[in-house]
Amino acid sequence: MASLTIRKLDDAVKTYLRLRSAKNHRSVEEEVRVILRELIEGREEPLTPFAVPYAAPTPQRTGALPEASVTLIIGGGIAAYKSLDLIRRLKERRIEVRCVLTKAAQQFVTPLAASALSHERVYTDLFDPQSEFDAGHIRLARDCDLIVVAPATADLMAKMANGHADDLASAILLATNRKVLLAPAMNPLMWSNAATRRNVAQLQRDGVVLIGPNAGEMAEAGEAGTGRMSEAIEIANAAERLLRPPTPKPLAGKRVLITAGPTHEAIDPVRYIANRSSGKQGFAIAAAAQAAGAEVTLVSGPVDLDDPPGVTVKHVESARQMLEQVEAALPADVAIFAAAVADWRVANEGEQKLKKTAAGMPPLQLVENPDILATISKLTDKRPRLVIGFAAETEHLIDNAKAKFARKGCDWIVANDVSPATGVMGGDRNTVHLLSRKTGAQDGEIAVDSWPAMTKEQVAIELVAQIAKSVTGKSLESAS
Ligand SMILES: Cc1cc2nc3c(=O)[nH]c(=O)nc-3n(C[C@H](O)[C@H](O)[C@H](O)COP(=O)(O)O)c2cc1C
Repeated sequence: MASLTIRKLDDAVKTYLRLRSAKNHRSVEEEVRVILRELIEGREEPLTPFAVPYAAPTPQRTGALPEASVTLIIGGGIAAYKSLDLIRRLKERRIEVRCVLTKAAQQFVTPLAASALSHERVYTDLFDPQSEFDAGHIRLARDCDLIVVAPATADLMAKMANGHADDLASAILLATNRKVLLAPAMNPLMWSNAATRRNVAQLQRDGVVLIGPNAGEMAEAGEAGTGRMSEAIEIANAAERLLRPPTPKPLAGKRVLITAGPTHEAIDPVRYIANRSSGKQGFAIAAAAQAAGAEVTLVSGPVDLDDPPGVTVKHVESARQMLEQVEAALPADVAIFAAAVADWRVANEGEQKLKKTAAGMPPLQLVENPDILATISKLTDKRPRLVIGFAAETEHLIDNAKAKFARKGCDWIVANDVSPATGVMGGDRNTVHLLSRKTGAQDGEIAVDSWPAMTKEQVAIELVAQIAKSVTGKSLESAS
């Protein structure tokens, strides 16, 4: 199997992978695997001209791809029957399961039962010509996101602690570079035995994660104590926590204010001046900031979008109403002005619907709207620590954005080309350039960081990551 060195990919691909994986809460490596799987499943020709020893991933009932995969090693203990329920619990959580049964495990549950529940081939032998033609034990060890051992017998833990590899289960455990979750199950005397204590301590030092055992009645008549395997649901939850750790919240405790969408400037009660902004970029930023733990207020002009969950949304029509709501939402730690605010409004707005007259067209006088970005950037008392403006330009993008930067007094400008050919206005993708002052620059020298074309959600995630780094010093990856 070819291996891929992420470092050697070009920058645009690396950024795309980094953003896509962050969005899906996967590692970059996992994301590459999902992309390859999607590609392969979309092929019209058969996957291979010959039979492969591994079953193709089971199609999900929903049509969605499984998001994670587990190699489940079932050891030879009485609790093995609970592992059949564990297969079901993992699959409910959209975790693909491949089972390995030890020789002793097959005295308690059959490979057929595990196969029927997992919808996958079950593996039992190290020396299996069918799976070993391409080092199947190595693939079972690594071609998964997590290894779960349930029940983890005293014997399996002893082998693991001492690096034995004389059967398929122990060879997989020795060959893996994945996290391992053990659910021990044994008689209380076996659990408290000095040899087991030593093995458990060694395994914990090696970074293996344990769940249980619980205290309670044992299968043996009249025996009670610590040694019962955790319930299937507890093990499945522990596996899910390892596979999908909670999203980092680097902006927890921070207040973020965002504007989005166009403004409508009334001509009369039924007509208005507007622009083509859809609000998608601002809404995506609000959702990403909320996901990063911020308390978010979104002041939105008229848009056709659902309010992002967990965000306080103030709906407005005109630039003046937008400024009013922005001021009401202060103080904030960060303000991001993504709205396409109309520069002008009609000074002589009609109180009634304007009528066609013989005298010709009604004269519309325009007057300048308040400049929300400049107003907030120049505040002295309630100025947010980080003020970010958007520059939507149709020509001389960087030059115009630099000029805007100098005029407005904000900290960063996100410049995007909104000329019709780009499809940015109203579209789902964006190509942006982040302008900021060069560190230590004397004369306001501006740094321009150009990002590759991405979806507006990806732009939002990357922007929020940059904000988190700037405001808290924490990156999305390192925060917890
Ligand atoms: C009826 C019965 C129940 C057993 N239950 C357990 C158990 O719960 N935990 C355990 O560590 N060993 C238990 N054993 C002993 C293991 O089956 C034995 O150590 C075996 O070698 C384990 O093999 P494995 O670790 O490769 O699965 C049990 C044995 C029998 C006969």
